[in-house]
Amino acid sequence: MNEQTTTIDRYGVMGYPVSHSRSPVIHRLFALQTRENIQYELLQVSPEKLETAIRQFQRTGGKGLNITVPHKSEVTKLVDRMSARAATAGAANTLTFDGGEIRGDNTDGIGLLRDLAVNLGLSLEGSRILILGAGGATRGIVGPLLEMQPASIRIANRTLGRAQVIADHFSEAGNVSACRFNVVPVSDRYDLIINATSAGVKGETPPYPAAAVSDSTFCYDLSYGLKPTPFSVWARESGASRSVMGWGMLVEQAAESFKIWRGVRPDTGPVLKQMSITA
Ligand code: ATR
Repeated sequence: MNEQTTTIDRYGVMGYPVSHSRSPVIHRLFALQTRENIQYELLQVSPEKLETAIRQFQRTGGKGLNITVPHKSEVTKLVDRMSARAATAGAANTLTFDGGEIRGDNTDGIGLLRDLAVNLGLSLEGSRILILGAGGATRGIVGPLLEMQPASIRIANRTLGRAQVIADHFSEAGNVSACRFNVVPVSDRYDLIINATSAGVKGETPPYPAAAVSDSTFCYDLSYGLKPTPFSVWARESGASRSVMGWGMLVEQAAESFKIWRGVRPDTGPVLKQMSITA
């Protein structure tokens, strides 16, 4: 008898909570498109069970994991080999299990850049960028943004100290400074304002600096939703030229993870469309 065996490689996303995650849908679409034989699971794991859950996934033959909120920083303690960009970000969103070793990478920054530069056609060279928020998300995007050679990056945060730590960390790589929301100089107008706070997820709209917006400012929210996020609403009301939610970044960071795991980068355009997402 001619018996054919096919192996399905297992992947998944671990977060807490995670039920809202679109990653399973996105990776299934990628798999269909590239004819890669994979299975992708949604794994809700609380912080105290993170290590056990990861080791078990690895032991039972899992090939790789996406790591999402709130585990991206904590998971770096379990990684054996970290990519340079994950080390810089102090956070990993992509784990690969390889011969007993856990490799960690971070595709958030490159995902954002692909969306800004390729999907949205923005040129960041010489631009003035304002990032709102100074948590893990900001840490992951400052390095990749600096590679596009902007004129400056200012990080504004409710808690000045957190913004200052990140600005100091990147001070040798470019013109990066920190301030509180309420002291963004009125004269400062920005080409790009990125919301990297988690305020919108909680339905909150902090006192973002409206004076920083002009009719040529492009606003980008790392968060996304089916309805406009609080930041998107604020951006439009403040007179921004355009306001976009982070659907594109979500799909692009997933494509980079898929490429790390499978060696092939899916075509993201049809997937963005298929999810009925309008940027
Ligand atoms: P993430 O990994 O998503 O960046 P985080 O590390 O908890 O999450 O960071 C959340 C960011 O959102 C922080 O910059 C936080 O400001 P503080 O550093 O002052 O805590 C910001 N943030 C969350 N809720 C906020 C709110 N209601 N107003 C202003 N900033 C808020």
